[in-house]
Amino acid sequence: MKKKLKLGLFGFGCVGQGLYHVLHETHGVKAEIKKICVKDHHKQRPIDVSFFTYDAAEILEDSEIDVVVELIDDAKAAFEIIKKAVENGKHVVTANKKMLAEHLEEIYELQKKYDRSILYEGAVCGSIPILRNLEEYYDNDMITSIEGIFNGSTNYILTKVFEERKTYIEALKAAQDLGFAESDPSLDVEGYDPKFKLTIAIAHTFGAFVKPENIINVGIQKISEVDLKYAKENDLTIKLVARAYKIDGSIYGFVAPQFIPADHMLANVRNEYNAVLVEGAFAEKQVFIGKGAGSYPTGSAVLSDISALTFDYRYEYKKYTQGDAFPFSNEAFVDVVISSPEGSLITNRDFDNFKGGYQGKGFQYLHGTISLEKLKEWSQWDDLSVILAPTPNLVGASQIKKGERLSA
Ligand code: HSE
Repeated sequence: MKKKLKLGLFGFGCVGQGLYHVLHETHGVKAEIKKICVKDHHKQRPIDVSFFTYDAAEILEDSEIDVVVELIDDAKAAFEIIKKAVENGKHVVTANKKMLAEHLEEIYELQKKYDRSILYEGAVCGSIPILRNLEEYYDNDMITSIEGIFNGSTNYILTKVFEERKTYIEALKAAQDLGFAESDPSLDVEGYDPKFKLTIAIAHTFGAFVKPENIINVGIQKISEVDLKYAKENDLTIKLVARAYKIDGSIYGFVAPQFIPADHMLANVRNEYNAVLVEGAFAEKQVFIGKGAGSYPTGSAVLSDISALTFDYRYEYKKYTQGDAFPFSNEAFVDVVISSPEGSLITNRDFDNFKGGYQGKGFQYLHGTISLEKLKEWSQWDDLSVILAPTPNLVGASQIKKGERLSA
């Protein structure tokens, strides 16, 4: 029988309190919180003050503490904490997506060097157990794509705007009040948060460590009334989709809003729910759906990692160690629909393959194929909204060069 794990917790915000709650409601997990390190001396705390310290060393230097659970906001400070923790012989559980995405390769090396586990299921799509499935279940299946809704706040906002006709500002405020949004909500609405999660997922799906700055992210902040109208008239909805594919010797990945047909698997994934679609050579399409944000759902994923440590679990990064990862590339093309005021600078000649469009009431919609670089560029223009077409037809540049597509 294993001894009870002693936990040192950093941060006691939304997820920290969720973990405290689920840990006390669950009976099977042999773990208890010994200390919680927080920053703010003046904040009222919902549990006994004797749990709290303001000195990180009280946890990091305590030889009785087996596991550091890192749940703070600051990615830089979080990396220092987890480095020190493994150097001091502790295992780590973290849900810090930004920190993980920025340092994933170093985190892999740290685990090998100090022979300790760093687990982070709660960092990718909240309660959905995707990382352990990618590591264990899909070990021998050749995954060709992973895509889905990787951010709860934006899905909540889009649901409220579409279904309840709330304004964008009202819906964002509600997502913040419910504890779904990041402290800096631009990370959610501009697509950075799902990009960080995608970066982590790519390592466990395809064995590639990609720097998040190399992955293109387009957010939902420029979606307009005109886009909502287009969606409603065409029996579509809009979702912020993170996706990565293996095509023709390269890995492609990016985050962008997409028009989703009513019969698509993602169409009915609403509010703060996330979904991950995995496609493998043998298993074919599978979909995971669960709450992607919120105190208890994320707390439950963190608890599951703590529980995994009681049987010495460690990610093996099998796809990486197998050594046949494809390079990451942005040289691909997708189909988009753009909306802009009539007379804007973009015309059908700016598309690599123009597929149609119409003008009316001061607005124009244009539909066609563009490069990912152009998607990035256009997404930064004022008065222009770029949304992936219902069927985005992602193709790698090498296929185009073979004349398989744009010559149509
Ligand atoms: N802000 C994140 C989201 C929290 O809305 O998905 C969970 O990672």
